[in-house]
Amino acid sequence: MTLPYGVFISFEGGEGAGKSSQIARLCATLKSCGIDHIRTREPGGCVEAETLRDLLVRDSHNNWTPKTELMLMNAARHEHLEKVIRPALKDGRWVICDRFCDSSLVYQGYARGMDLSVIEKYRADIVGSTMPNLTFVLDVDPMIGIPRSRGNVHENGQVNQETRFENLEMSFHEKVREGFKKVVLNDPDRCHLIDAHKNQNEVYMDMMSILLQKYPLLSVPKNTPN
Ligand code: TMP
Repeated sequence: MTLPYGVFISFEGGEGAGKSSQIARLCATLKSCGIDHIRTREPGGCVEAETLRDLLVRDSHNNWTPKTELMLMNAARHEHLEKVIRPALKDGRWVICDRFCDSSLVYQGYARGMDLSVIEKYRADIVGSTMPNLTFVLDVDPMIGIPRSRGNVHENGQVNQETRFENLEMSFHEKVREGFKKVVLNDPDRCHLIDAHKNQNEVYMDMMSILLQKYPLLSVPKNTPN
């Protein structure tokens, strides 16, 4: 099925909230419904932005100031929007994105302490009207999420080396969690807080009931894909 303009769905949340598994399930459902879609992520999603991702998320000696971090995130986002997201939406494909601009507001704003109006200026310039139609914010206590994320093994079998944020102190991750709650409160039509302490099936069903309210034409198989 191809719509005149694609649907843009972003997933947000702290480390170890289970975004990847839920995104995989959603994409499997979209596929089974015949909905043309792409799965992508931030920072990253195209060659140039993935280069910037390595600088930003790998644990290294880079100790960016928050402002540089924000600019690099937005540089990656600009490449991603121009080369991947906008063309896909224009072609009527759905875009399922692991993190987007709410992460800048939360990580560089609420958690790093940057002035929120500066972050909004970048958002207005780089993202403009290409905002997600729907955002799922997966909420998990960092005392649970961080150890889960540290134990994560990538799909290629390698141990997670993207630990620059993950290794920050627990108080940072608490601010991230509270920041995402504020994002949901400030934009309740678009953003939905999902309790990610539940088991994966329940989390998925909670998300799907919201998705189906917005897009009732979707028919979701009773046996959800794993
Ligand atoms: P993840 O894709 O494994 O969640 O890792 C990406 C990390 O980058 C995560 O710790 C959040 C961080 N991040 C920001 O700080 N600002 C942003 O704008 C984005 C997209 C991600």
